[in-house]
Amino acid sequence: MPKVHGNSILTKLTTMNMLVSGVALLLASTGFFVYDQLNFRDSLVRTLSAQAQIIGSNSVSALLFNDPQAAAATLSALRSSIHVGSAGILTPDGRFFARYERTPADRSFGVPTMPTGQVETYSIGRLHVILMRQILSDGKLLGFVFLRADLQEASQRLRRYALIAAAVLLISFLLTMILTSRFRRSVAEPIVHLAETAQTVSRDQNYSLRAMPSPEHDEISVLISAFNEMLSQIQQRDTALQGARNELEQRVIERTRELVSANRELEAFSYSVSHDLRGPIDALNGFTYVLLRQYGEKLDPAARELIEHIRASSRRMVELIEDLLKLSRVTTASMKQTNVDLSAIARSIADELCRLDPARPVRFEIREVPPAQGDDRLLRIVLENLLRNSWKYTSRHPRACIEFGSTPSNGSVAYFVRDDGVGFDSNRAHKLFEPFQRMHSSEEFPGSGIGLATVQRIIHRHGGKIWADAEKGRGATFYFTLGLSG
Ligand SMILES: Nc1ncnc2c1ncn2[C@@H]1O[C@H](COP(=O)(O)OP(=O)(O)O)[C@@H](O)[C@H]1O
Ligand SMILES: [Mg+2]
Repeated sequence: MPKVHGNSILTKLTTMNMLVSGVALLLASTGFFVYDQLNFRDSLVRTLSAQAQIIGSNSVSALLFNDPQAAAATLSALRSSIHVGSAGILTPDGRFFARYERTPADRSFGVPTMPTGQVETYSIGRLHVILMRQILSDGKLLGFVFLRADLQEASQRLRRYALIAAAVLLISFLLTMILTSRFRRSVAEPIVHLAETAQTVSRDQNYSLRAMPSPEHDEISVLISAFNEMLSQIQQRDTALQGARNELEQRVIERTRELVSANRELEAFSYSVSHDLRGPIDALNGFTYVLLRQYGEKLDPAARELIEHIRASSRRMVELIEDLLKLSRVTTASMKQTNVDLSAIARSIADELCRLDPARPVRFEIREVPPAQGDDRLLRIVLENLLRNSWKYTSRHPRACIEFGSTPSNGSVAYFVRDDGVGFDSNRAHKLFEPFQRMHSSEEFPGSGIGLATVQRIIHRHGGKIWADAEKGRGATFYFTLGLSG
């Protein structure tokens, strides 16, 4: 932001005033001078003409009686006229009849050219004005009279005027400076103060500042009060905004606190339910086992079958509880970020599955994928669920292919597990990630419907997304991203 210079407005004001008064004075004095020069020359010519007429008529008898001395006496009357430097009376053939010079220097001036036909002519040179007039008597040309006046006085006047103009200019400059500095308080200072305040406000974002009101009632005071009004409005809005933000923040804090405690209660509840349920079921399992071992011989086959059903049901119950416990654990378990090699994990799970059921002709295609950022233990649970599902939902097919790999997705990496098993209707794919939601019956494929819910929670905890793509009878692909790795 440019710095405000307190003097710049004042300097501009002074310069402007000086320039205006200077130009006005210059124009006025030039006009006056030109007028004066023209006037001076005009009146000089008129004076010379009158003098020439008087000398002409006074010299008629001198010329008629050929008396040069009388003519010279007439000419000497010019001594009282300070302009005239030299004068002369000439015969019609252009010779001097009588002459007059104010100083010896004027003698160097020769005979001027004769006018042709006109009674009176004059010429204005740079240094003098020469006037020439015929001397007539009864219409007969007796001779000429000429007068030469200096223009020295005109240039003297010019110098005097220039001096006066310079003095007036100087005085007006001084006056301008004095007057401008008197205006400083009322014009420049409030503007400079306003500019400084605006600068401070925008630099410090401090809208409680105000520009000092001007004592005058002019445009500057309107500007200052509008600026102050604007600041007040900004301040009011700021305060209102801050209030709303605080309230909102407070509400978010309260809601979060409520949510966290509700969530904790729920987790604790489901954990204790699943945990406490295990006791009685384990007892059920144990006692039916003892019943079969010790009294099996005494029971008829129908009773034994019923007991087997009880045992199968209680085993399923245990599995369900185990799965619920796992789901509750992944939500609360602490996370440790590391670089995770998902391909290696997928390979170890595939090996384990093949080892458990070596008879199944399943081909695993595990590709190398970019390293993932996340919790190694939780990501293993993700892959275990997805690969086990693929293993399970391809079991009806004589041969199967299960694939693990990665693909670019929205500028980051999506990992995927693909199989060519039974698949499902992809319109309902989003449902699968809710607990207990299953697309297949327990008779068809055993399971609890908690696996994908667990997977989704883990992926969300990693800031990632999970989605499925499948077709009934043609296999399924589950994709996931990990926000933390991207
Ligand atoms: N690879 C797959 N192929 C076909 N269906 C699948 C696959 N993975 C999951 N599903 C469907 O999604 C449902 C939910 O999966 P999951 O939560 O793991 O539960 P479970 O495996 O215990 O049934 C399954 O019941 C099944 O219908
Ligand atoms: Mg499963």
